[in-house]
Amino acid sequence: MELANRLWRSSLGKKYLMALSGCALFLFVVGHMIGNLQVFLGPEALNRYAHFLQSTPEILWPARLGLLALVTLHVVTAIRLWAENRAARPVAYSTYTPIEASYASRTMVVSGVIVAAFIVFHLLHFTLQKPVGLNLSGQDFAQLHDAHQRHDVFRMVVVGFQQAPVSIFYIAAVGLLCLHLRHGLQAWFQSLGLRNEAWRRPIDTLAWVAAAVVFLGNSSIPVGILLGFGKDMVK
Ligand code: HEM
Repeated sequence: MELANRLWRSSLGKKYLMALSGCALFLFVVGHMIGNLQVFLGPEALNRYAHFLQSTPEILWPARLGLLALVTLHVVTAIRLWAENRAARPVAYSTYTPIEASYASRTMVVSGVIVAAFIVFHLLHFTLQKPVGLNLSGQDFAQLHDAHQRHDVFRMVVVGFQQAPVSIFYIAAVGLLCLHLRHGLQAWFQSLGLRNEAWRRPIDTLAWVAAAVVFLGNSSIPVGILLGFGKDMVK
């Protein structure tokens, strides 16, 4: 308890908490992406996987509550650090000329807020499937069932991404998420003291490659569907 208190009160402690929660969220995004890529294996694989998660509350609920706790910790520490930084520099620079800061680091708060808005949209779209009009397809995703009476997640994803505005929004949001991830990963290594002169280049390359893989993996789903994947399977 004492340790948690000390971590929370120091700036460095909050940076560690942000880095740790960010790293766990990154692992969730990678795991979720691998699960979702099963869409390319067809309806049986994706629906079986989704049904397994939905019908195993001992995995689903701890994972949901853990995610909620991690997101809350990540956002609250980000806001507190941002407020502390502002308080330490009450007068804004008269001419703002960032030298070292990259585009990603300057936009961490903005990209974070947009990613949060995307997650809210995504939960309404695919998890709550409400309001029905949100998915733009005219279909009620909650009523889609396959031949085994399981929720037809495959059909939901294909019909969902056949709506071009929805797919474009996902691709843009995942792009911003990856910008956020790339900088977050660099900051994570920095907090651990590993991003020194010798390791800076390989670490920055690793962060870039990890963000690119997450972007390509996630966006391949809406892009593939817009290009016609799954069309003949949801007739
Ligand atoms: C194109 C990429 C994505 C696809 C196809 C996708 C698909 C899905 C689907 C189908 C569900 C609902 C599962 C169900 O209820 O049966 C879901 C839930 C969820 N997704 Fe995604 N997702 C994508 C990207 C993302 C990203 C980038 C994030 C995070 C930044 C994310 C976070 C979540 C969360 C938190 C849930 C709720 C899990 C739960 O509590 O049930 N997803 N996703």
